Amino acid sequence: MTRKFAFLDGRKERQFKMAKLAVNVDHVATIRQARGGVEPDPAAAAVMVELAGADGVVVHLREDRRHIQDRDARLVRQLVKTRMILEMAATDEMLAIAAEIKPQQATLVPERRQEVTTEGGLNVAAHENSVKKAVARLHEAGIEASLFLDPEPGAMRLARKVGADIVEIHTGAFCDAADKAAQARELKKISEAVRIAREEGLVVHAGHGIGYKTILDFAGMDGIAEFSIGHSIISRAVFSGLDRAVREMLELARMV
Ligand code: PXP
Repeated sequence: MTRKFAFLDGRKERQFKMAKLAVNVDHVATIRQARGGVEPDPAAAAVMVELAGADGVVVHLREDRRHIQDRDARLVRQLVKTRMILEMAATDEMLAIAAEIKPQQATLVPERRQEVTTEGGLNVAAHENSVKKAVARLHEAGIEASLFLDPEPGAMRLARKVGADIVEIHTGAFCDAADKAAQARELKKISEAVRIAREEGLVVHAGHGIGYKTILDFAGMDGIAEFSIGHSIISRAVFSGLDRAVREMLELARMV
């Protein structure tokens, strides 16, 4: 998003691109689940990240319930005043839960039980009909539909075809790239995917693996409306507190 600000002394107005930040609080639940108790509470974290200025709160309700529980998702929906984003697999169980909880946005992700985190984007080409039906069910419930996709031109076009409102471009390959050349290749793919998604009339989000340094690598890229970030923020919060960790990332997101 680009916002215009006029200088008070009459200098020409400047444009700032100010990406939004949605904070994923799954890892707060991961710490709670390590002891099977009640703290730290991801619902409390959701309130704190909003107070720090985040534009949205993300929770991923996984089939195996390894971190976020159903109770967390329901509570987060009640507490969050900005936007709740529910990450979920496109299964009947999750679609029914989404229709009941009614987050403002649902992001469809692929899910494998053994994976440590979401490993790749959704393969829309292989599941075009089921993704299209899932998007329609989300729309019936009044929920905006986002698809988590690898940065490939074909995937952006298919997202439009199945009726998605938003694409979240998977930034993991860029953030984990081993050297500068690989980074440059991955960044180019992302930039091209953003361009095509925008041409298709989709809103573009980006996420996975983004840290306090890598977020600024997206600064030259026009069209990313929102970042979805979890691990780096919760990791920093362990040392400097959640409020500060969110504010520091927000400051960087606003430069993109
Ligand atoms: N977006 C999606 C679709 C994800 O699955 C995740 C990981 O839960 C994220 C963003 C956030 O990734 P990270 O925790 O690496 O910032």
